[in-house]
Amino acid sequence: MHHKFYLGHVIDCLKAIKSDTVQTVVTSPPYFGLRDYGLPPTEWPEITYSPMAGVPSITIPSMVCCHGLEPDPLSFISHEV
Ligand SMILES: C[S@@+](CC[C@H](N)C(=O)[O-])C[C@H]1O[C@@H](n2cnc3c(N)ncnc32)[C@H](O)[C@@H]1O
Repeated sequence: MHHKFYLGHVIDCLKAIKSDTVQTVVTSPPYFGLRDYGLPPTEWPEITYSPMAGVPSITIPSMVCCHGLEPDPLSFISHEV
């Protein structure tokens, strides 16, 4: 069994993992609207996703904010999918 810790922005760290080399990624993201961790904000692209099966897709505009400090829950969720 091989363990490796990645320290950095979650998106950069996930991109650094070679495909088909891990079975599980364990995350503990910020809660929505709870805490400012003092990290630099992220440039999020426009995201279109369906909040749940059977629900029409929604489009969240691009934004610059820290994860957890989005303006609304649907934007927060879009940065988790
Ligand atoms: C809910 S806390 C995790 C708590 C941790 N599991 C514990 O048991 O202490 C969320 C963590 O996510 C980190 N974080 C916030 N935005 C991040 C990002 N874009 N990339 C990586 N880590 C981030 C924060 O610094 C914070 O430590």
